Parts: sequence; structure tokens; C-alpha cells
Amino acid sequence: MQTVFRNKDFITLQEWTREEIDTLLDVSLDLKRKFAMDIPTPYLQNKTALLMFFEESTRTRNSMEAGLAQLGGHANFLDTSTMQVSHGEVAKDTAVILGSYGHAIACRNCNWEEGNKYLRDMAANTPVPIMNLQCDLYHPMQGLADLLTIKEKKEITRNLKVSVIWAYATTHKKPISVPLTQILLFPRYAMDVTLAYPEGFELPEWAYEQARENAAKNGGSLKITHDQEEAYRDADIVIPKNWGSWVSDPEDKQGSALLEANRDWKCTEERMALASEDVMYMHALPADRGNEVEDSVIDGPRSIVYSEAENRLHTAKAVMALTMGGRG
Ligand code: CP
Repeated sequence: MQTVFRNKDFITLQEWTREEIDTLLDVSLDLKRKFAMDIPTPYLQNKTALLMFFEESTRTRNSMEAGLAQLGGHANFLDTSTMQVSHGEVAKDTAVILGSYGHAIACRNCNWEEGNKYLRDMAANTPVPIMNLQCDLYHPMQGLADLLTIKEKKEITRNLKVSVIWAYATTHKKPISVPLTQILLFPRYAMDVTLAYPEGFELPEWAYEQARENAAKNGGSLKITHDQEEAYRDADIVIPKNWGSWVSDPEDKQGSALLEANRDWKCTEERMALASEDVMYMHALPADRGNEVEDSVIDGPRSIVYSEAENRLHTAKAVMALTMGGRG
């Protein structure tokens, strides 16, 4: 077990070894058990994290704020529209200053072709750990909670058929960071991942290459299809979710025409019936009910979305406990 994490950036799980991720899962479960038994976990007393949000959040913000309070520390919530970032203050200046006020900087910046660069710029300019609360490319906090949830529910991950499926939504144009994180991470735990999407909603080619390398090293696989029924058929886990056409259309010129042409990409009872008998339905949330998924599926017996969301708390606490505290 790896035990030295203090000040390690958490920008993508690709930069964490399997052994390190296993430690994160182990610590998450320990914190979850202690939370269940109301055992105090004051591992980060007098520590502060600065949480910068360029976009809205329910789960990520509250799992970080509640989580750090439960670890004995304090989280400062920063809406970037009220910061000097909105007047053009650069990542370096923000990182140097915020890093001198606390013990970690966490940031959500999903702006396409900007978010990850912003995090990297901050990481290059502060000794405190940078935590990615979702960028244009990765959502490691979500990926870690998803992995913990799958391991809790299925125990053995080897050769599980996990289908990451594009779904129609109208609420907002979502980043690719959740499916991209999932296709990179799950093959590392020997899962057989099927990625399904209508043409125009592809993920970057480099992500497919890295996912296949991860699969080759660890016994999983990655299959890509444009046939959603194929993705549902015999699946052990389905994760139907919307994402934008950022890769094929960075400026969104095809816009709603491409989206509207694919209204039929929805998780329905009929499609769920193609999957294995004990299939599980996952979604990072928020879900666009009625568009991405039928209510009867997300509220039905195969849905584990609330366990998945609950695990965001315990995994976020593990990341903070190990990178802000722990052994240096
Ligand atoms: N899944 C997720 O990141 O949720 P929020 O956008 O509410 O943080």
C-alpha cells in the first residue's frame, strides 16, 4: 500500500498508480465506516482548502465543504464570478496567493480547452495540492466515487460489462470529463468498457489510446459503438449520460441540430431489459429526467445513483485527508 501523498496533485487519476488509487479506496471505506458509527475523524484540524468554482455544483461543492468540516478543517467557497479572476487575474497569481492562505486549492473549470490548462498553471505555481473538481477533460472525484460504488455493489470488477452511453439532454451542454474519466479508469480494474455515442459526440482519440493501453496492462477492454442497443445488451452496469460535441465541434456550430437528431438516445425500460438481469444504472447527476432517462429507471430497483452520490463524500474526504495531511 502506498502511504505518502502529502501535496500530491489530484488532477487526473491517470497520474495516480493503481496502488495509490487502491489506498484512496481503502481510506474512503475507513472514513465511511467511521462516519456511519459517528466516530470523529479530525485528521485535518486547522487546515484550510480554497474551493474555486467557475460553474455550478451541488455534489462536488457540498461533499468538499461537509467533508473538510468532518475532518476538522475549513473550506472557503469561492465563486469565481466574484473573484478578480473575472477581471483577468491569471492562474499563477491566484495560485500563489491562495496557496499562501491555506493547505490546498480545489477548482472546477470546465471551459473547453481552458479548464485543465488552468489547473496545470496553478499546480506549477503553488506547493499546495491542486484538486480537480471537474475540468474540460477529467472529473477524478466523480471517477473515484464511481469506482468505489461499483466495487461495493459488484465486488469483482474483472470482465464486468460496463457501458458508458451518450444520452440526449436539454438542460445544458455538458463536459466530456465524466465519460472520459470512466473509460480511462475502469479498464485499469479489468472492466470491459463499451463506449456508445452517435457520430459527432466522440471523445478525443488520445483518450481511446490511453484507455486501450490501460486495458492491455490490466486485463480490461474498450469497445466503441454507435449502436446503443449493443451497449445495453448483456451489460452489468449502464451509465447513460449526456455530453457535448466539443471534440468534433469546439465552437458548437452544429449546435442543436446534431443534438435534436439524437433524441432517441435515452435510457428506457425497454433498453434496460436488454441488459443482464442484475444490471445497475448509474449517473453522476444531475440527470435530465425524461430526456436522458425515464423516471421509472432512475427511480427503479436497478438504480444506484444515490449510493454513487453519497460516495462522493467519502472519496473526497480520502483525497483531502491524504493530500492535505497524512505523511509527507
Ligand atoms: N456529479 C457532479 O459533479 O455533480 P455536481 O455538478 O452537482 O457537483
